[in-house]
Amino acid sequence: MITGLLTAAYLLSALLFVLALRGLSKHETARNGNFYGIIGMAIALVATIAFGMSEGNWWLLLLLTFAAMLIGAAIGVWRAVTVEMTEMPQLIALLHSFVGLAAVLVGFNSFLAPQDVAADMHLVHLIEVFVGIFIGAVTLTGSIVAFLKLSAKMSSKPLRLPGKNWLNLGALVVITVLGVWFCTSESWLPLVLMTAISLAFGYHLVASIGGGDMPVVISMLNSYSGWAAAAAGFMLNNDLLIVTGALVGASGAFLSWIMCKGMNRSFVSVILGGFGSDGQLTTGEQDYGTYRETSAIEVAELLKSAKSVVITPGYGMAVAQAQYPVAEITRRLRDLGVNVRFGIHPVAGRLPGHMNVLLAEAKVPYDIVLELDEINDDFPDTDVVLVIGANDTVNPAAIDEPGSPIAGMPVLHVWEAGQVVVFKRSMNAGYAGVQNPLFFKENSAMLFGDAKERVEDILKAL
Ligand code: TAP
Repeated sequence: MITGLLTAAYLLSALLFVLALRGLSKHETARNGNFYGIIGMAIALVATIAFGMSEGNWWLLLLLTFAAMLIGAAIGVWRAVTVEMTEMPQLIALLHSFVGLAAVLVGFNSFLAPQDVAADMHLVHLIEVFVGIFIGAVTLTGSIVAFLKLSAKMSSKPLRLPGKNWLNLGALVVITVLGVWFCTSESWLPLVLMTAISLAFGYHLVASIGGGDMPVVISMLNSYSGWAAAAAGFMLNNDLLIVTGALVGASGAFLSWIMCKGMNRSFVSVILGGFGSDGQLTTGEQDYGTYRETSAIEVAELLKSAKSVVITPGYGMAVAQAQYPVAEITRRLRDLGVNVRFGIHPVAGRLPGHMNVLLAEAKVPYDIVLELDEINDDFPDTDVVLVIGANDTVNPAAIDEPGSPIAGMPVLHVWEAGQVVVFKRSMNAGYAGVQNPLFFKENSAMLFGDAKERVEDILKAL
């Protein structure tokens, strides 16, 4: 009876999680999607507590579970309330590392204190433990490196160890041998050795990826965390954890694949830590010539005489919180009869849809916010482009310099417009760590300073 109720509750939760994923795939339905996810998780928790703890010291387990949930929920609410929008990606990366850690701990627990396993399933159980710890350990260190890179505590440049592909391949071979040793001997030594190698492997995989490819890595780690959860589900014999983990794993892998296609990257190369990209990279530090500086008053004059303006925002707009004056300047120019549109790169900022969210928050009409594919052919007919805190996403080196770490990544062709004004605080490189030749082009001018302050200066001058 109890088992039946538990299965029914898990089935309902799984259905709600599928509906949640479906809802989250579109802006308009995202709120409903979140709601389904919350209800699904609540049902899963209540069912696990009510029907899953019927033996032994169940009341003690219940007490501990509630205490853990209270502490976890308090920390979660505190982080959700205090986190800045620009810090979201690193928070997500850190949360992925917790899933990895959980899978490692569940794996060791499952090995040291095994539950009743039928004799004919014993080997399967050992493989579950081994694979679960492997995926968990890779997710754990990979996510920590992603967290460090995203929060600028570690360089965003790719780590280039000599023979790095061979190192990865060697690690996989050794791990397979250790797997055979573990399953035949059931000794803890190969398990511990494999864990240590997997931790190093996860570190190396993500450290080898350059800043420009980090969006793909984040969704890939999301996928890994899903598989880690599914592996934990197998070890705990928990159907819901298996289904949920597989949902996250598969949707994360699909998102990574879409991102790779959008960014012209090889999916296999990215999941294997930049496999096949051992070639010499250009640093972007060559001499591109001199750049020209402009002022807010000059830019205001330029805008007044323009017929068509495109604004390409990037991470700097998010840092400066410049979206409100940017929305105001858009209204002002549209009132003057200027055709103003936005060009949004799929990985501008640090989150998928980051710029769209900021512009929607500042009430910029949806119909003038265009995707890269929709705007790229229009730059030759554009009088002025305002590059507000964007850098890698408007870098022509992606096209002109085959050795660049961002080579092949589609970019906004802003340099094809009549005039380009770049808002930033210094001549520093973008997230991928490469200099941007756009700044030195004849039709480009730099407007230095905080993007919000400079846009407000232009508003005053208009
Ligand atoms: P970035 O290449 O990150 O450059 C941002 C620019 O903003 C910098 O050049 C910086 O120059 C400027 N900036 C920072 N604070 C500013 C402020 N207060 N006022 C004015 N300018 C400011 O920007 P992007 O073009 O949006 O490219 C995004 C990069 O992040 C890509 O490489 C992408 O692959 C990576 N990434 C994206 C994601 C997702 S999913 N979107 C996730 C992880 C990584 P100064 O310091 O000189 O001001």
